[in-house]
Formats: sequence, C-alpha cells, structure tokens
Amino acid sequence: MIRIENLHKAFGAQRVLQGVTLEVLSGEIMIVIGRSGGGKSVFLKHLLGLLQPDAGGIWVDGVDITSLRGRAMDRVRERYGVVFQGGALFDSMSVFDNVAFPLREKTDLSAEEIAARAEEKLTQVGLGGMGHKNPAEISGGMRKRVAIARALVTEPEIVFFDEPTTGLDPVLVNAIHHLILDLHRKFRFTAIMVSHEIPEIFGIAHRVAMLHEGVIVETGEPQAIQRSANPVVQQFIRGEIEGPIHAT
Ligand SMILES: Nc1ncnc2c1ncn2[C@@H]1O[C@H](COP(=O)(O)OP(=O)(O)OP(=O)(O)O)[C@@H](O)[C@H]1O
Ligand SMILES: [Mg+2]
Repeated sequence: MIRIENLHKAFGAQRVLQGVTLEVLSGEIMIVIGRSGGGKSVFLKHLLGLLQPDAGGIWVDGVDITSLRGRAMDRVRERYGVVFQGGALFDSMSVFDNVAFPLREKTDLSAEEIAARAEEKLTQVGLGGMGHKNPAEISGGMRKRVAIARALVTEPEIVFFDEPTTGLDPVLVNAIHHLILDLHRKFRFTAIMVSHEIPEIFGIAHRVAMLHEGVIVETGEPQAIQRSANPVVQQFIRGEIEGPIHAT
C-alpha cells in the first residue's frame, strides 16, 4: 500500500531522516516507535505531503507522491484520515462541526447526510449526543476521541495517528486502543501510528518499526521486536538509561 524508500530530510545542519525505508501493507496496523525528537512526526508529515524530502521516494498504491503538487496531492489526501499529535481540534467549532468538517470539505453530501454520518461517528467513539459541546469543555480523552471520529468520518483507506493516546490515564489509553482496533475491524483501513505506549502497542500492532538516528533499525511483528537481539531496540522498549542510546 505504502512504500517509503531511502527518505532523507535535513533542517539546516540537522539531519533528521537519513535513509528511511519501510513498507506498509494494505490493511495492517504499523506502529512506529522511537525517541522523542527522533523524527517520527517529520516522517509522517512526508507521507501526508506536508514536507518534501531532500531525497528518496514515497509510493502510495504505486504512485510516487513526492512528485505530486496541488490538486494531484489533494486527491491522495482524500484517501487519508489524520489524527495529528495533540489532536488539533478547531476550538472555535463545536465537536459536531469538527467531525463534520472533512465531509463538508471533501464531499458533496447533503447537510442531512453529513449530520447523520457525523453523529454516527460520534456514537462509534462513544460520544453520541455530545456534538453541541465545545472542544474546550471536554476532557483530554474526549478530545482524542473527537479527533479519531474526525479522522475516520470520511471512511478513509489510510489513517495516520500521531501519538493518539499521549497524556491519557492507563484506562483511557486502553480504551482508545480498543476503539482503534474496533474501528479497524469494521473499516479495515491501513493504519500508520506513532506511539510511545510500551508495552500496550504490542497488543494492537500487526508490525512495529523502530526509527533511530534517522533510519528504521528494525521492523517486525510485536513478538519479534520484543525478542529483538538489537541492543538499541531492547534498551528503548525497556526504558533503560544505560546502553547504546544516550539519554539527552
Ligand atoms: N519544520 C521544521 N523545521 C526545523 N526543524 C524541524 C521542523 N520540524 C521538525 N524539526 C526538528 O526535527 C526533529 C524531529 O522532530 P519530530 O517532531 O519529528 O520528533 P518526534 O520523533 O515526532 O518527537 P516526539 O515523540 O517528541 O513527538 C526535532 O529536532 C525538531 O525540532
Ligand atoms: Mg512527534
């Protein structure tokens, strides 16, 4: 579904991506882990067409999106749902309008149809009847669920989640993970998620990839990653201070 090859990106002298290569299969949940500041969001922004690489290619269904501009890239984005890091809700709009927004932007559906679909998505994330609230009036966990409803309301083929559970209590982390799994079972989208929730991610990922010092150092099924012989992977998933990764 998505093939990333030898992606490079630097900001001035700071080399963030130094040859990222990764393949994401249709319908799988791929979770990317790695240090804070390691370039995970920068990587996702390339897949979204929000950043252009210095070198390398990104193929979505065989089309290299790094050469696409304007309308052509918009058409690719129509197949995407995105949960941005921090949720990025529009605070000036109600919860309902936040969820309806992509339908109003990307489709020609009638107002009635949009209302029905937005309310249905709110119900699917457990927020039925909450549409009239403002994002400022709801809890962090509810905001995450609104962001997920908004990302999925167009029933996209590919969904990007950038740390969808950061800052939530352990019960809510599990609830959001179950929600994502439940929606994935229903809609079978391809998911690329960035997350720091270890060990919880091992229960929901089909495969895990670790981004470290600008490259993917290991990709595999959760069990294989947990048993990895790579000391960088082991230190990271155990959160150890001593090891090849320097805590800075
Ligand atoms: N537009 C930009 N211009 C300059 N530097 C940037 C830009 N975007 C990101 N960076 C830098 O790239 C590095 C990687 O940032 P990124 O946001 O991808 O980290 P991350 O892995 O997502 O971290 P976290 O887990 O904390 O979200 C950081 O040092 C950041 O300051
Ligand atoms: Mg990030």
